[in-house]
Amino acid sequence: MNDASNLSIFEHAEVIEKKFAARIAVLSAAPEGRAVEDLRIAYLGRKGELSSLMEGLKKLSKDERPRAGKVVNELRGKIESELETLKIKVRDWQIEQKLAAKALDVSLPVDSMGQGGSLHPVSLIRSVLIKEFRHLGFSVCDGPEVDLDFYNFSALNFREDHPARDMQDTFFIQGQKGMILRTHTSNIQIHTMLKEKPPLRVVALGRTFRCDSDMTHTPMFHQVEGFIVDNNISMAHMKGVIDHFLRAIFGANLATRLRPSYFPFVEPGAEVDLECIVCHGKGCRTCKHSGWLEVGGLGMIHPNVFEAVDYDSERFTGFAFGFGIDRLAMLKYGLPDLRQLFEGDQEFLGQFPVYV
Ligand code: DAH
Repeated sequence: MNDASNLSIFEHAEVIEKKFAARIAVLSAAPEGRAVEDLRIAYLGRKGELSSLMEGLKKLSKDERPRAGKVVNELRGKIESELETLKIKVRDWQIEQKLAAKALDVSLPVDSMGQGGSLHPVSLIRSVLIKEFRHLGFSVCDGPEVDLDFYNFSALNFREDHPARDMQDTFFIQGQKGMILRTHTSNIQIHTMLKEKPPLRVVALGRTFRCDSDMTHTPMFHQVEGFIVDNNISMAHMKGVIDHFLRAIFGANLATRLRPSYFPFVEPGAEVDLECIVCHGKGCRTCKHSGWLEVGGLGMIHPNVFEAVDYDSERFTGFAFGFGIDRLAMLKYGLPDLRQLFEGDQEFLGQFPVYV
């Protein structure tokens, strides 16, 4: 830039291009994020090489300006695209470094005295849930992950045109009319009730699927579903069961509250809030300053559901609930991003206990 005043704008552009090429060559051999950003600032920044060329443009006559402008623009485009390529190189290189640092030789003999394996956070929560529900006399059931619309929606009182169907971001199976990936474990209610007669006391844990992905949603996630059908079952029984298993997971006497809400297959329906495990109701970042954490949904089973499975809705009552297992794991272990649970990162997974 120093002796640029003695050069024509074309010569100046050529000097800049050569200097830039030399810097790129050095950085390509040893890519480094910070240096790439410095280079961008030095050439494209407000006081960079390119703006000094632009200054030069202003001094040109009207006739000279278009041709010189074209050269400057081409140079800018070239610099931008080379910086972009270099950025990608840096990113690839960083990934390679990370992988190399974590390389694992699976052919090495086992260090029997070393650290053993550990359980996945979802498995840990699952185990606690299964243990606690068995204590309460529940049997553990399962149901299909690929299911008919009938079990996932229609029999659960979602009418054909019900807007709640849209809320579930359903994955449909191509070419198989009526076949979907279940959006919740509530389908197990229908499968079980069609097979068995009351009294029922059932819990089911499994994978569920919705087309959604961000910090708190993954396309595959886990739910626990529970339901009781018998004579004279009330909301009070339900509250007792919920308080019991939440206490078992979080190990403390935390308050719960039910907030009226709508799910087609229950009436009345409610959402369950748990007293914030971090601030105990005072308000903090985890609970978004509300003092409460939303953990699940529940309600008294809708008579239309009983009708769909041919149960006498005059004779039986029941409650059902559904909670996100991953959400419980996130809260229990203070995980900021749900996606961590499904990345299989050894370092992350190694932090969890071996036993429940
Ligand atoms: N299936 C609901 C969902 O995934 C959760 C749920 C709400 C389950 C209320 C229930 C219930 O059994 O009673 O959004």
